[in-house]
Amino acid sequence: MRRVVFLGPPGAGKGTQAALLAQAEHLAHLSTGDLLRAAVAARTPLGLEAEGHMAAGRLVPDDLVLRILAERLRQPDATRGFLLDGFPRNIAQAEALDRITPIDRVLSFEIPGDLLLRRLTGRRVCPKCQTVYNVETRPPRVEGRCDNDGTALVQRPDDHPGPVETRLKVYAEQTAPLLGFYRQRGILRSVDARGTPEEVSARIRRQLEDPR
Ligand code: AP5
Repeated sequence: MRRVVFLGPPGAGKGTQAALLAQAEHLAHLSTGDLLRAAVAARTPLGLEAEGHMAAGRLVPDDLVLRILAERLRQPDATRGFLLDGFPRNIAQAEALDRITPIDRVLSFEIPGDLLLRRLTGRRVCPKCQTVYNVETRPPRVEGRCDNDGTALVQRPDDHPGPVETRLKVYAEQTAPLLGFYRQRGILRSVDARGTPEEVSARIRRQLEDPR
């Protein structure tokens, strides 16, 4: 059973790679961002509390995120192995995760800042099926429309310049310290996140198969 964490700045391609790997290896893809966005869309009390933090690019308070994640980890598919995408985001969350489950590998997505900005500003999402596109690197067949259901694609509210700047700052201040946390435990591996999704996938597989 694999228990993997994807760590990396906003726009590094964690969600894209998590979807590919989860499908190939029958792992549960646990994205706290997706879980929170679903709660926002459903207007649940938790979603209403998270919404303002997310739109501004700040982290959602730990207790809310932990509640949503612990519930997801209890679902049957997650007991066969999982891939955490966007969690943990700070040391307190990593310590809380330790109390819930062991982790086998943490993959750090390494990517230059200018490429991150291009990926973030070019991202478009289908609000119905959540498929992620990119105007530059993964355009839909018909401009502005989802390939699966024809729905008009939207830009995430936190992909606008102000929130993007906040998210990058939050990553540097609160999430990057996790690299040292997991390096010390000997389970951290780096992945070059430049290049096509297929190239990045191949690097991820190599790191996961490396027994060191
Ligand atoms: P979350 O949804 O987790 O966002 P994020 O970490 O900022 O990551 P992104 O989804 O922006 O990027 P990604 O790395 O998944 O890139 P993607 O694959 O889409 O979190 C959103 C918010 O929720 C947070 O700001 C916070 O408020 C809250 N939150 C979530 N978790 C939390 C937690 N644990 N604690 C507290 N708050 C939390 O790719 C980006 C674009 O690039 C796409 O358009 C894609 O098509 C394109 N692309 C991807 N790979 C490639 C490639 N190889 N080549 C070319 N284009 C590519």
